[in-house]
Amino acid sequence: MAALAARPEAVAAGHRISHSETGINGFCKKPVYPYTFWRTANNKRARGEEMPKIHYVAHDGTDRVVDVAEGETVMRGAILNSVPGIDADCGGECACATCHVYIDAAWKDKVGAPNEQETSMLSFVDSVQDTSRLSCQITVTGALDGLVVHLPESQH
Ligand code: FES
Repeated sequence: MAALAARPEAVAAGHRISHSETGINGFCKKPVYPYTFWRTANNKRARGEEMPKIHYVAHDGTDRVVDVAEGETVMRGAILNSVPGIDADCGGECACATCHVYIDAAWKDKVGAPNEQETSMLSFVDSVQDTSRLSCQITVTGALDGLVVHLPESQH
């Protein structure tokens, strides 16, 4: 119970606290959650922290606004929030180009240009444009709060 009291944000987010974390046997007091546990959007929300908002505009014009934790990628923001239109088959390794997005023209300079590897992957995309980026290569920061990305009609 001591661990539950010490971790109200974990309880608020619906996570269970294991016995190994409580140190109930006197030996296992190491944290059982990886660092990313603390970065998840749900925990930031539980702590009342503000997060950058990313607009994912579907091909039909539907605009989904999602809170994405700083340090996450635009791709992971979509996957973690079940935004349709980004497949991310390689899991963010810059090896599939199925996380292709078009950066809104107003944000192009702030997001920046793709690096050499990303440019190489984008060459396999049929519908590539000047504003094309792979969303797994865009790290969300506070400066990208309000970023608008447009999703292609298809990732294939
Ligand atoms: S997820 Fe595969 S290239 Fe981005």
